[in-house]
Amino acid sequence: MFLPQLLTRAENGEKLTALTCYDASFARLLAENGIDILLVGDSLGMTVQGHATTLPVTLEQMAYHTDAVARGVAGKAFVVADLPFGSYQKNAEQAFDSAARLMAAGANMVKLEGGAVVVDTVRFLTRRGIPVCGHLGLLPQSVNATGYRAQAREASAATQLFQDASDLEAAGAQMLVLESIPGVLADEVTQHLAIPTIGIGAGPQCNGQVLVLQDLLGLTQKPPRFARDFMEGAWNIAAAIRNYVASVKAGEFPGPEHGF
Ligand code: KIV
Repeated sequence: MFLPQLLTRAENGEKLTALTCYDASFARLLAENGIDILLVGDSLGMTVQGHATTLPVTLEQMAYHTDAVARGVAGKAFVVADLPFGSYQKNAEQAFDSAARLMAAGANMVKLEGGAVVVDTVRFLTRRGIPVCGHLGLLPQSVNATGYRAQAREASAATQLFQDASDLEAAGAQMLVLESIPGVLADEVTQHLAIPTIGIGAGPQCNGQVLVLQDLLGLTQKPPRFARDFMEGAWNIAAAIRNYVASVKAGEFPGPEHGF
């Protein structure tokens, strides 16, 4: 699937559904059961490789998993691949080389973390035909600085996030992940931007929702507050995925208990 098709769904008021995905079998299953966006997240450092953070993940590992997901999905959903830690922060040229590697592996869009510091890079990539998704709020690649906790709860941080979101859109970003921020702020950002916002721990008002696949499947030992185990009450994985899709589309997930 290409970007215009995805954006039309959002413009028509459809909630977008996203899950992380790291291999071909799940790519096929997720696409067949109604997931719009497969995120080859660098969370694979934790879910697949067993690290404590996403930081050890390399560009080659991301390309390997993106390639597998793209083959499994066979064009039936939109594939976003994370630029891993250290593959884009140096300068725009470095980011272009890394993004080109992931696009060649089959990504339809790359995602990178951060606000003002990556705005020029986003402009550089999007002007060269690489669709970019921003990522604000809790930034897992900055965990050594912030820890894993909700962000932008104070007024000054919320104002900064709002500004960063506007600047990323102006630089050409065509989607924005908002992670672990107050739902009220995510709502304001979503109202303000023309591009779709995809929330994870950011309340129900975003244009779409994303979860880590292992959280949805109930495989995470200590799941984050914003996750729900959709295997509960489902008789197989496909049913759990369909239940997630239906809950997001109906605005039933996330509920107040998943927010900040
Ligand atoms: O890598 C990942 O799984 C992500 C999600 C948390 C949005 O970036």
